[in-house]
Amino acid sequence: MLIVLFSLLLFVSVTLQLMQIDFERLEQLAGFDIYNSSLRVRKYNRTAVAINGTIELMVPLNESVMVTSDLFHSSRGNQQFNHYPVKFPTQNVYEFLENFYKDYSEYVDDLDNLPAKGECPIKPCKVDILNKPFPAKAVPPFFPSGLWKAQIKLTMNDVEIARFELIIKARQDLGI
Ligand SMILES: *[C@@H]1O[C@H](CO)[C@@H](O)[C@H](O)[C@H]1NC(C)=O
Ligand SMILES: *[C@@H]1O[C@H](CO)[C@@H](O)[C@H](O)[C@H]1NC(C)=O
Ligand SMILES: *[C@@H]1O[C@H](CO)[C@@H](O)[C@H](O)[C@H]1NC(C)=O
Ligand SMILES: *[C@@H]1O[C@H](CO)[C@@H](O)[C@H](O)[C@H]1NC(C)=O
Repeated sequence: MLIVLFSLLLFVSVTLQLMQIDFERLEQLAGFDIYNSSLRVRKYNRTAVAINGTIELMVPLNESVMVTSDLFHSSRGNQQFNHYPVKFPTQNVYEFLENFYKDYSEYVDDLDNLPAKGECPIKPCKVDILNKPFPAKAVPPFFPSGLWKAQIKLTMNDVEIARFELIIKARQDLGI
């Protein structure tokens, strides 16, 4: 789902401000009947990465839809991932969206057709994201190098309805 993914991208980009990052993969693994996306991570110029494409929510989502995120780390960058012990709360999509807007609305203000604040149920929508570079906002906590995989699942009554995966490569940027 758009919001989850975008929130994740922002989380990652913000946290990795002082690091060299390369996106390895951004993939939808399940839920093609509810969400359709041409969103890709692409190199924008020599130093910046942007996301570009169109995302489409094809069905309404109500509070029965839960969002779960998990983070995995491969410190050697060899794809052998270990579950990373950071706890993202499981939330329903309304709570998720509310928190997302609270923290990140400044970064998505320019996007048309995003669900309105407090919209209930969340209506089908189609959003163009045109070469959106990551927001340059430094958050200093140390972020270990290696490959990172984030998995985001949407479930309804404990049944998975969509799943997304994002893999990035992180290296310390020595500021050169
Ligand atoms: C998904 O979107 C593409 C265009 O971006 C379109 O060609 C395709 O038919 C859509 N798929 C579904 C299932 O709506
Ligand atoms: C790359 O694009 C970003 C975002 O627009 C910009 O801030 C940066 O100066 C650009 N870098 C180069 C080398 O063109
Ligand atoms: C960016 O996304 C738009 C909308 O989906 C698409 O028309 C365009 O071809 C994409 N540009 C690149 C360079 O991928
Ligand atoms: C949410 O929508 C689904 C259908 O997509 C429906 O089965 C479910 O009962 C709805 N939940 C609530 C709390 O309205």
